[in-house]
Amino acid sequence: MPVGKFITFEGGEGGGKSTQVELLCAALIKHGIDVRATREPGGTAGAEEIRNLLVSGAPGRWLPATEALLHSAARHEHVSNLIRPNLESGQWVISDRFADSTIAYQGYAQALGRNCIEQLTRFAIGEIKPDLTLILDLPPEIGLERAKARGQGGAGPAEDRYEQMGAEFHQALRDGFLEIAKREPGRCTVIDASAPKVLVAAAIWKTVCERLELKI
Ligand code: TMP
Repeated sequence: MPVGKFITFEGGEGGGKSTQVELLCAALIKHGIDVRATREPGGTAGAEEIRNLLVSGAPGRWLPATEALLHSAARHEHVSNLIRPNLESGQWVISDRFADSTIAYQGYAQALGRNCIEQLTRFAIGEIKPDLTLILDLPPEIGLERAKARGQGGAGPAEDRYEQMGAEFHQALRDGFLEIAKREPGRCTVIDASAPKVLVAAAIWKTVCERLELKI
């Protein structure tokens, strides 16, 4: 039975998830909580290899079902080898993306449907669910601008495959994440990611303290 808390960050492109994961980890460590940050697709050596297949190259490189299977395969590795063992040892785990991304990207935006992804996820990882999911929400045009600026000049192959998908895809993605939040209000909180970074961090900290009943 897992004892550490499991927190996930979700949302479209350019919402500042990675920065906010770092800031939340630092705040938790300051309060004496043992926490491990990770990401999807990726988090373990094998899952990072699968990530490379997914995040670079032409947008049409994979069929939608192939993508859903690859993300699920990476998640199976990640949950089995990192997330579950760490939670069971009492460590908190914070993941930059998790199963809601497959519902939003492949289920809604790539139109495979929620049911199909839910079945696949159950097969890949069983019943494990985050204790809290923070959905960083902002208009897609602002997020894509930010993601483009961030991606310029980096070393290695550009991780911009999903950014290249059209405006309709990114709007469906945003609607998909908001639908997930509406269906599971006990687990998910929507955070306005268009606000300045410090205000986003403060909203996240307040939510974590309230939802997970942190005594600080
Ligand atoms: P990142 O940019 O947040 O690191 O994530 C890599 C990309 O992978 C991002 O564009 C979203 C996409 N993705 C999916 O399409 N399905 C998934 O299940 C996950 C975890 C990510």
